[in-house]
Amino acid sequence: MQISTDHWATWRTSALAAAVELDVFTAIDEGQRTAGAVASRTSANASAMRRLLDVLVAMKYLTRRGENYELVPVARTFLSRKSDLFMEGFDQVTRMLSMGWQQLAQVVRTGQPIVREGGAAPGEFFAVLVKSIFPQNYVGAKTAVRAIPPQTRRRIKNILDIGGGAASWSISIAEEIPGARVTLVDLPQVIAVARQYADRHGLASRFDYREGDFREVELGNEKFDLVILGHIIHSEGAEWGKRLIARCAAALRSKGMLLIAELVPNDARTGPALPMLFDLNMLLHTPEGGTFTMRDYRGWLGEAGFGQVKTIKSASVPSPLILAVKR
Ligand SMILES: C[S@@+](CC[C@H](N)C(=O)[O-])C[C@H]1O[C@@H](n2cnc3c(N)ncnc32)[C@H](O)[C@@H]1O
Repeated sequence: MQISTDHWATWRTSALAAAVELDVFTAIDEGQRTAGAVASRTSANASAMRRLLDVLVAMKYLTRRGENYELVPVARTFLSRKSDLFMEGFDQVTRMLSMGWQQLAQVVRTGQPIVREGGAAPGEFFAVLVKSIFPQNYVGAKTAVRAIPPQTRRRIKNILDIGGGAASWSISIAEEIPGARVTLVDLPQVIAVARQYADRHGLASRFDYREGDFREVELGNEKFDLVILGHIIHSEGAEWGKRLIARCAAALRSKGMLLIAELVPNDARTGPALPMLFDLNMLLHTPEGGTFTMRDYRGWLGEAGFGQVKTIKSASVPSPLILAVKR
């Protein structure tokens, strides 16, 4: 029954976050197969570990044959440290965001976001968050770049990644477009993370960085062939989001492209559930943020001088990506 599932839904997230915190998936990936072996590798209690591992079997992140546990492909790809696509920080992000969600009723009463007392400063929070969202976005970007016709792709020489985080979108796209240079704008603590990820992917020499507040950083005029707004507009809100889209248009050359990744509810705002829940996440954590519909995006893009707005489905991100061409 859905009411029971939803009553206890946070337990699933907590079980997964605890397993990541304990590094259970890495231990199994390294060859520890039994509950005892995983417990001793992760400094945990063997019988408690067995109970956690059996839950992960029920949740379909592990399989068990006799006493031996195995990772399923999604766990090997995203939850083991041995993977290039490890969702580092999954457990920390779960903890940081759950504090806000516990105050949802109060936030709905007042209409004001939570008061952060002693919480992480934005740069510190984002330096953790961007690592955990890197893998899905990196994979989503591969779909986006393949949706751009090869002759158009060859014209892309300069890419601007605004609020680029760990450079999930721009690393993935730069790998597919040899020679393209990336300028990434973000807060200083996050740029340090982007540098690590670009180095790790062998792209250090093709990345430039601009530290600072993207509302103020000069983005230039007609300099770029592709601008990326990856999960930026939801925290900016409608007014700042529209302004940012207009600044992206100014920064692009004629026929340049804007790629937007967002959680997008349907036009009637009746679903899907994740973009709608994300809207509440923004209500909790930002003064003006929210999720916006395709009708909103088409309107804002048209006003800013974009045409040919298309959507691209990717299995690794929750909503279709938006690609628009400057007229
Ligand atoms: C949700 S993360 C998205 C990261 C990346 N674009 C992605 O999709 O993987 C938002 C990013 O915007 C950055 N950011 C938020 N507000 C900013 C501001 N005012 N100036 C510069 N960067 C900002 C954060 O530091 C973070 O890296």
